[in-house]
Amino acid sequence: MDDGGLIKPKVVMTRRILEPGPSIISQKCDLYVREERKPPTKQELIELVKDADGLLCLLSDKIDRDVYDACGKLRVVSTYSVGFDHIDVEEATKRGVYVCYTPGVLTQATADQAWTLLMAAARRLAEADRYVREGKWDIGWAPDLLLGYDVYGATIGIIGIGRIGQAVAERAKGFNMKVLYYDTVRREDLERQMGIEYCELESLLERSDFVSLHIPRTKDTIGLINEDNLKKMKPTAVLVNTSRGGIVDEKALFKALSNGWIFAAGLDVFENEPTTSDNPLLKLPNIVVAPHIASATHQARSKMAEVAAMNLVNVLEGKDPLFLVNQDVKKVKPLDKVKMI
Ligand code: GLV
Repeated sequence: MDDGGLIKPKVVMTRRILEPGPSIISQKCDLYVREERKPPTKQELIELVKDADGLLCLLSDKIDRDVYDACGKLRVVSTYSVGFDHIDVEEATKRGVYVCYTPGVLTQATADQAWTLLMAAARRLAEADRYVREGKWDIGWAPDLLLGYDVYGATIGIIGIGRIGQAVAERAKGFNMKVLYYDTVRREDLERQMGIEYCELESLLERSDFVSLHIPRTKDTIGLINEDNLKKMKPTAVLVNTSRGGIVDEKALFKALSNGWIFAAGLDVFENEPTTSDNPLLKLPNIVVAPHIASATHQARSKMAEVAAMNLVNVLEGKDPLFLVNQDVKKVKPLDKVKMI
């Protein structure tokens, strides 16, 4: 194909993402895909990206000052995720590096996973599955076998009423639930539209049968669900985390689950990922876990690939990306100065 003799921008993808991501990028850029599944070390990442104009990364790639220092040509970092706590955005902005992300397209998949964990924890599904497989089901139907708690008609407390929090609330309507929410910004529009009720965090924790977290990891949210807050919850309550590890203090959660401060938990995310089999939480029966797969549906991951790739290509074409994290970067380096293709 005639490219008019222009030099194509060099783009690095730190892991192969789903189609159409790679195809969209390789039509316009010189794309290098790192085929290994394990995250690169810092040094390897720097080696890979040092001459790159664009980087497509995952949430397990830490993009910090060292990376920007070593990769002076970098114009855009496009993450294959909605969360961007792995990227030093402030530093990127100072240096005129555009940071893009993929909100919206994984909202429903993530809300589904929050509900999957919520119901599995309430009805002890993982425990029941192990019980049957391990040959422990010896007496047939029993009045008190694996009792859980009702979901229908219960109260759910949603912490963070952004896109995903709202999608979780919508599903709660089908279960005739009372929906409470807490966020740093009160949303009276949503209260009217969705019939949800704003509460302070303390009151939400005290009143909810289910608490589901939908907030980003920031310096203000790390350790938010600590011993004090877990003690405020009902002994029959279920905690669900599909947002980010570290927001729930795992040592405190272990105490809460083993001492009956709460009934059960469902976690898709961990303080350290991958968590290891010696994590004390994994020894407890009343927790159901998943390996950070809330957006892992064929549909969501392909859409994320399309959005992440288009974000990156748009910036290199000097066009607005679909979803830009750091709007202020335009003041540092306008798009016409970033344009390469
Ligand atoms: C997943 O956790 C994401 O941020 O996309």
